[in-house]
Amino acid sequence: MIYLDYAATSFVKPSAVYTTTLHAMRNFSANPGRGGHDLAVKAGEIVYDTREKLCSLFHIHNPEQISFFPNTTAALNAGIKGVLKKGDHVVTSSMEHNSVMRPLAELKRRGMIDYTVVKADASGRLKPEDFIAKCRPDTRLVICLHASNVCGNYYDIGSISKAVRTNSRLFMTDVAQSAGILDIDANQVDLLAFPGHKGLYGPQGTGGLYIKEGIMPATIIEGGTGSRSELLLQPEEMPDRLESGTLNVAAIAGLGAGVDFVMREGVSAIAEHELMLTNYFEEKIRNIERITLLGSAPKVGVTALNLDSYDCIDVANLLNQNYGIAVRSGLHCAVSAHESLGTNKTGCIRFSFGYFTTKKEVDKAIFALYQISKNMYRYM
Ligand code: ALA
Repeated sequence: MIYLDYAATSFVKPSAVYTTTLHAMRNFSANPGRGGHDLAVKAGEIVYDTREKLCSLFHIHNPEQISFFPNTTAALNAGIKGVLKKGDHVVTSSMEHNSVMRPLAELKRRGMIDYTVVKADASGRLKPEDFIAKCRPDTRLVICLHASNVCGNYYDIGSISKAVRTNSRLFMTDVAQSAGILDIDANQVDLLAFPGHKGLYGPQGTGGLYIKEGIMPATIIEGGTGSRSELLLQPEEMPDRLESGTLNVAAIAGLGAGVDFVMREGVSAIAEHELMLTNYFEEKIRNIERITLLGSAPKVGVTALNLDSYDCIDVANLLNQNYGIAVRSGLHCAVSAHESLGTNKTGCIRFSFGYFTTKKEVDKAIFALYQISKNMYRYM
């Protein structure tokens, strides 16, 4: 199988991720912070170790400002619902994933908040000045993703953040498609939600949220933290404030190995490889009749297209069945991004590359698209 679905999750992982995860599970998967015995201490150290590694990667000063979650969606929910209060206004972009759009829509439905969407153009481009224009005196939070999970465009979050951040207005970013691929400086933002299992090559069930020191989020989950058990209310200290319940120690250990891999290879080398594949793929695809490419440069290792008016699900099924190529088609849990790109009725076929994707695999995908494009009438 040729796996071109890295935007959904990375597969394969560096071998150290498998061995570290299994080693942790076999040897010290006790409950961190819940007991003073050696195994609980060791489990706690491993979790802290991964926090420190993530700090180095994202240029964060204090490891305690990172809370672990099972995925980016949970981290986004904790951040969004943690900082917003009744009556707040939010500005976000049309390119966001449903993991931003749905929490906002739900809070609005409950009469808690209002929000305004900055519309991307038909190529998925966003302008920093549009975010400023949509801000109001009651705008508490601006959310903009770093890179699109649909078409791969990435955005200058540093400039957008600089333009909109004030003492009372926070900036949050979703780095689901860029963590481990683009250089990310968390100091440019107030909240940052990241996946562990995509570009950081950790196991599924890992993700996290960085919150700038001094912000005290409201909780959406309360419970045991292993700390301040004498208190009836949730502790205020981070990361315990947001981390109730037993952590996924083995997966977090594996994530640490994934971050080690990314740091050792270097984010810029990873970016260079993935961007080279995207450019190469797009360059060749442009010569194939009846294909419409979506989005615009600069992109991460994600791109998307449609083939005439053929159903994107049918094309993805052909790629899977006849060529052994794994891609994701449809709406990619991001219907508002598809609205901007003009594909909300049709969806599209997404190809996403990772550090382990080879040019030969990309060539096979190009050839498969060429053949499908030529012979489509036979299939449909
Ligand atoms: N958000 C992931 C994707 O785009 C799952 O496929």
